Amino acid sequence: MKRILITGALGQIGSELTMRLREIYGTDNVIATDIKKNQSEAAISGPFEVLDVTDGKRMVEVAKKYQVDTVMHLAALLSATAEEKPVFAWNLNMGGLLNALETAREVNAQFFTPSSIGAFGPTTPKDGTPQDTIMRPTTMYGVNKVAGELLADYYYQKFGVDTRGLRFPGLISYVALPGGGTTDYAVEIYYEAVKNRRYTSYIDKGTYMDMMYMPDALHAIIDLMEADSVKLIHRNSFNVSAMSVDPEAIAASITKYIPGFKLSYQVDPIRQKIAESWPNSLDSTAAIQEWGFKYEYDLDKMTQDMLTKLTEKYQLKISG
Ligand SMILES: NC(=O)c1ccc[n+]([C@@H]2O[C@H](COP(=O)([O-])OP(=O)(O)OC[C@H]3O[C@@H](n4cnc5c(N)ncnc54)[C@H](O)[C@@H]3O)[C@@H](O)[C@H]2O)c1
Repeated sequence: MKRILITGALGQIGSELTMRLREIYGTDNVIATDIKKNQSEAAISGPFEVLDVTDGKRMVEVAKKYQVDTVMHLAALLSATAEEKPVFAWNLNMGGLLNALETAREVNAQFFTPSSIGAFGPTTPKDGTPQDTIMRPTTMYGVNKVAGELLADYYYQKFGVDTRGLRFPGLISYVALPGGGTTDYAVEIYYEAVKNRRYTSYIDKGTYMDMMYMPDALHAIIDLMEADSVKLIHRNSFNVSAMSVDPEAIAASITKYIPGFKLSYQVDPIRQKIAESWPNSLDSTAAIQEWGFKYEYDLDKMTQDMLTKLTEKYQLKISG
């Protein structure tokens, strides 16, 4: 990776990934793009282009203008929003991906796009979900992710595009808010803990899903992209996870630092149904063996950092 084009760069992952890549590869070598500009650090600290990923011609133009050798495709509609607008989701998620893969092919670039735990479905083994297993998702988002994984593998096999991907679990972060996923509760709970010391969860108690803290997710992306191609048996996409938690587990961790924190429930049937169709815990062995995946943050270490960073953000004081 020397010159990197990022789509959807102002979202939850992109706004942090852009800054991390600029630190490592140089500000001018990381071209952030999104459907519109805002005043965030990722948008104003270096090269930025307005780019709608459904416009394949313009994507190729931008890639050629900056002579990129890597395309990181993040723009997508996430699980909960995709369930509300399934046809729009198909067109954006599949059309955008096809354009991004074609761009990578045209300019001979390495390629990354995230898949998700949403690529699995109710017939997938729920605990210790293997790398290679049954994938029959029941959401539009999941259908897009499975099709996307296959399409990225196809571009590798058919055209030799160096495609790589990660099946991300719910990502927890404090810079940009999540964009309409099923695991968003695990971010909101920290914001509400700091602001109001209480949270009403739309996901029910006992519903376990995989999660990961954003710094570990950024490491995983960079480590996978820098990994020796010959060592990769799988490509699209690797299971990665740092923890398997339910709302009670996160609340118990928060209570260690904010003793008066209260968790209550008002379950949203749509997002609950999506969550129940996903695995409880992924097996990341293939990622560990093929490119050395590791993570630093377990639940308590993440909770401590999230609460510290959000308290700084809101300039509030945590006291019992
Ligand atoms: N955040 C998570 O927990 C998580 C977990 C698993 C997988 N993923 C995947 O990672 C990728 C990025 O996720 P995210 O959480 O950063 O999403 P996000 O919703 O926070 O950001 C998506 C970005 O895409 C942009 N976008 C939307 N439509 C666009 C278009 N037509 N053209 C260009 N840009 C457009 C949005 O403006 C936004 O900035 C997605 O593929 C998502 O499925 C995310």
